[in-house]
Amino acid sequence: MTTATAIEGFRYYPGFLDAARQRALTESVMAVLTQAPAYHATMPKSGVAMSVAMSNAGRFGWYSDKEGGYRYIERHPFTGQPWPAIPDEILSIWDAVANYGVAPECCLINHYRAGAKMGLHQDRDEQDFDAPVVSISLGDTAVFRLGGLNRKDPTRAMKLQSGDVCVLGGASRLAFHGIDRVLSGSSRLIPGGGRINLTLRRVTRP
Ligand code: SIN
Ligand code: FE2
Repeated sequence: MTTATAIEGFRYYPGFLDAARQRALTESVMAVLTQAPAYHATMPKSGVAMSVAMSNAGRFGWYSDKEGGYRYIERHPFTGQPWPAIPDEILSIWDAVANYGVAPECCLINHYRAGAKMGLHQDRDEQDFDAPVVSISLGDTAVFRLGGLNRKDPTRAMKLQSGDVCVLGGASRLAFHGIDRVLSGSSRLIPGGGRINLTLRRVTRP
């Protein structure tokens, strides 16, 4: 089942991944995090650390620090190693829902531990806005907020549960969105607790 919301191009697939696929996916994400440990990126200018721990798989990884701002980099900022490849079971989710003939180049891994959240923002550090952003939720339930194309537009909150998949395509590709809070302890999927969100993106134009 998919559910549309007010902004054109946003698709929501509740329960897209059954429990077994959620477990398999979590294992492959944990393997990526062993190779490419999560870190706390810092905000441009202020240098304040984000509450969400991040890492990446794919050719490009999303990163931010005080000096360089938001950007994609081809190596882990602390190990200096290339990012691990995007696991096949993650690529197959893109193939199923993105409706875009070319593979994603970045899988951003956001790990929300107790108290972590993400302010309203647009994903606009990519060169290619024709490709959608595909979002996969694992672990604790999150209160996701989706707005419009201007920061001041009305927003709506929706709960994203483990196994849910969303697609931000069409007009919604540049919609403001964020995570108000995570319902700590609502799932036992992630070792050590919390929520993991994967976002798949194209970075360059094919
Ligand atoms: C993001 O906007 O990068 C993450 C959204 C989410 O955690 O669901
Ligand atoms: Fe985002």
